Amino acid sequence: MHRIAVIPGDGIGHDVIAVARSVLDAVAGAYDDLALEYDELDWSCQRYAETGSMMPEDGIDTLRSFDAILLGAVGWPGVPDHVSLWGLLIPIRRAFRQFANVRPARGMPGVAAPVRGADDMDLVVVRENVEGEYSEIGGRLNRGFSDEMAVQEAVFTRVGVDRIVRFAFDLARERGGHLTSATKSNGIVHTMPFWDERVREVAEDYRDVEWNQLHIDALAARVVSDPAGLDVIVASNLFGDILSDLTAASAGSLGVAPSANLDPTCEHPSMFEPVHGSAPDIAGQGVANPVAAVWSAAMMLDHLGHAEASAHMMRAVEASLADPDTRTRDLGGTASTEEAGAAIVGLVADLAHSSGD
Ligand SMILES: NC(=O)c1ccc[n+]([C@@H]2O[C@H](COP(=O)([O-])OP(=O)(O)OC[C@H]3O[C@@H](n4cnc5c(N)ncnc54)[C@H](O)[C@@H]3O)[C@@H](O)[C@H]2O)c1
Repeated sequence: MHRIAVIPGDGIGHDVIAVARSVLDAVAGAYDDLALEYDELDWSCQRYAETGSMMPEDGIDTLRSFDAILLGAVGWPGVPDHVSLWGLLIPIRRAFRQFANVRPARGMPGVAAPVRGADDMDLVVVRENVEGEYSEIGGRLNRGFSDEMAVQEAVFTRVGVDRIVRFAFDLARERGGHLTSATKSNGIVHTMPFWDERVREVAEDYRDVEWNQLHIDALAARVVSDPAGLDVIVASNLFGDILSDLTAASAGSLGVAPSANLDPTCEHPSMFEPVHGSAPDIAGQGVANPVAAVWSAAMMLDHLGHAEASAHMMRAVEASLADPDTRTRDLGGTASTEEAGAAIVGLVADLAHSSGD
């Protein structure tokens, strides 16, 4: 039995997590060795508005006993985004040493890619998730005066860079692919040359894996000019954040982009969440695409050791996308979130039946 902490969060997070749970239940019904138990937590901007905090003071300790965390999205107008991010997501990522943020992007059936060649794209952005440019070191001076200023330090450690680069090399090796390191050592003269040095040294242990490095600007251009030529990309916290939205959008829609925040040591729970946010512009309309959340839940099953059930879930997702009647509005369809979810649930059962699982 796996215990899952479910945090739907805000806005469309509620709709897409409800679908992800129903698909997980359907898959669990098809596999004897898969059992899931959920605890739903109301941590959100709504909670912040009512109580002044995104999660309870002992929130991290509460999560510690779970096997994984499934999150919808947090953020809502009226609550500054840095409050929702630093009040919930970032503390979870850091307390549980979820240093690898894994964001796959690939061409999917029925998803028209706005970028030429992205239909054949099959890549994974591996983003460093706990240090780098997202640091708490810095401050503001002379607030309100004309000489007001802000300083923010980026933090790159040997341990932090080496472990994310190793993770990415391992993934590239596992996929039989190659690795691209995102850098900017021509402009950022301390941290990025250090990043490059560490990549070169770690690469010595992976002589069988082809790799190269590209400056982040050239790499962004490459995502648009030759997306199918990329495989695993390893990037710092900020570069990876931006790049993975670019790769997700190039593939078709934020509504289908999943992510995993992994503690690869499995000492702490890992967290799985769609790349998209709470989408206030469509919240409450029942039109959000649930695929990113369902795909994130499939990544969770894989991480928990259920690769076959995870692949089964993804076959159902792909079959649902291939049918124009079960696509949501962002993909040019007319299905509601619930209808798209029901279609995936139905396909999980059909595929189990037809493959004799
Ligand atoms: N990890 C997270 O929880 C996370 C990530 C990004 C943004 N946010 C927060 O979400 C709020 C809104 O941010 P934003 O508008 O910049 O980004 P967003 O991802 O919420 O929305 C961007 C656009 O994509 C569309 N979209 C997003 N998800 C979709 C889906 N599943 N189906 C169909 N369309 C979808 C939205 O309608 C919107 O037009 C902010 O408060 C932000 O801080 C949270």
